[in-house]
Amino acid sequence: MNISNTELDIDFVRSQFPAFSDPICKEWSFFENAGGSYVPKQVIDKLNEFMTSTKVQPYAEYPMAKKAGENMDLATKLFAKMINADTKEIIIGGSTSINLYVLSNALKYSIKPGDEIIVTNQDHEANISPWRRLSENGAVIKEWKINPDTAELEIEKFEELLNNKTKIVAVTHCSNIVGSVNDLKKISNLAHKYNAIVIGDGVSYAPHGFPDVKDLEVDFYTFSLYKTYGPHLALLYGKKDILKNLPNQNHQFLDGDYPYTINPGGPNHEELVSLIGINEYIEKLYNHHFENDKITLRNKVEKVNDLISKHEEIIANPILEYINNNKKLKLIGKNIITNKNRAPTVSFTARDKSSKELSKILVANKIATRNDNFYAWRCLDALKIDTNDGVVRVSMTHYNSIKDTNKLIEVLENI
Ligand SMILES: Cc1ncc(COP(=O)(O)O)c(C=O)c1O
Repeated sequence: MNISNTELDIDFVRSQFPAFSDPICKEWSFFENAGGSYVPKQVIDKLNEFMTSTKVQPYAEYPMAKKAGENMDLATKLFAKMINADTKEIIIGGSTSINLYVLSNALKYSIKPGDEIIVTNQDHEANISPWRRLSENGAVIKEWKINPDTAELEIEKFEELLNNKTKIVAVTHCSNIVGSVNDLKKISNLAHKYNAIVIGDGVSYAPHGFPDVKDLEVDFYTFSLYKTYGPHLALLYGKKDILKNLPNQNHQFLDGDYPYTINPGGPNHEELVSLIGINEYIEKLYNHHFENDKITLRNKVEKVNDLISKHEEIIANPILEYINNNKKLKLIGKNIITNKNRAPTVSFTARDKSSKELSKILVANKIATRNDNFYAWRCLDALKIDTNDGVVRVSMTHYNSIKDTNKLIEVLENI
């Protein structure tokens, strides 16, 4: 079937996710997507298929092993195409935190005393601690601080921190609290003038549209696949020319065999294969909404990204507007999504209640959310928010519907 290519067919989308008809989940409006998303049936099927038919050591000559290996390679190849990378630039690890730790361990050998590293206080701790730890190797850590009034990272402040000693810049593409999308391309271009390496955290960005990593011009980019409709894994992209020269952290005989040199071990086989299901889901969305199937996979991803962005504006903007205009609530970040300037990840606090109390009321009304610092405690600290109580975060993705939006506003209004 082919419907209008300007509007996301939300019923079709939701029909792809078994959770929406599951007895435990179906009564709930799910607003915890920045924590982890539901998975479409294509991912579940691929996982089942692997566990049933090919759960053997891959890459041997018998058919079950052959197929297991072929599917592992296919999953990597498809993901590379979806984000416009080379297959040899993709590393699959257990989580973004692990990926960034392993990467910082590999990069530490290139750090000399006095070299400078820029981290932010808007990032999730996963993209801060591994870099701050390089002070043990003599690195000087500089912090790109948010403007405490707007919670935004300002590019002028970044430019003031850059100089010839800057070696690494670690910055989030999109904050998991503020929701703002940072101009990673501009940040990369500025950093590259000083030959610094840029590490982008795409965890809060990728669920709203897989990025083109070449266009972003970052050197490394990572996101958690369990938030992009997949299993609990994370992808790390690295530029070939840098990966080639990183020290081998894997078995000795793999020396030079990048990207296998980065991780001390391989990925989870069955979960890796289930990533094919994410690709099948994106293809299915594309085929349902558009006619021309003679375009590249990356072009299909871009078309689907646009559909998703438009839908996310429709479902998130009324919530942003409501919270922003409610005198008892305090919204963090921009109050409207336009032109992908923000993700539908909405954090707020209440003036007369703790975040814990507020989130408890929401949960009692079948709004799946929580209060926390979401490991972005430096950001909350800079905003003078109690890091134990944290914020209430309602995070949406393309499978949320306007019904979810209206329900949340109604519950907030009744409080
Ligand atoms: C923006 C951001 N970066 C990094 C992480 C860490 O990801 P992982 O749980 O895969 O280590 C998270 C997790 O919530 C996140 O939201």
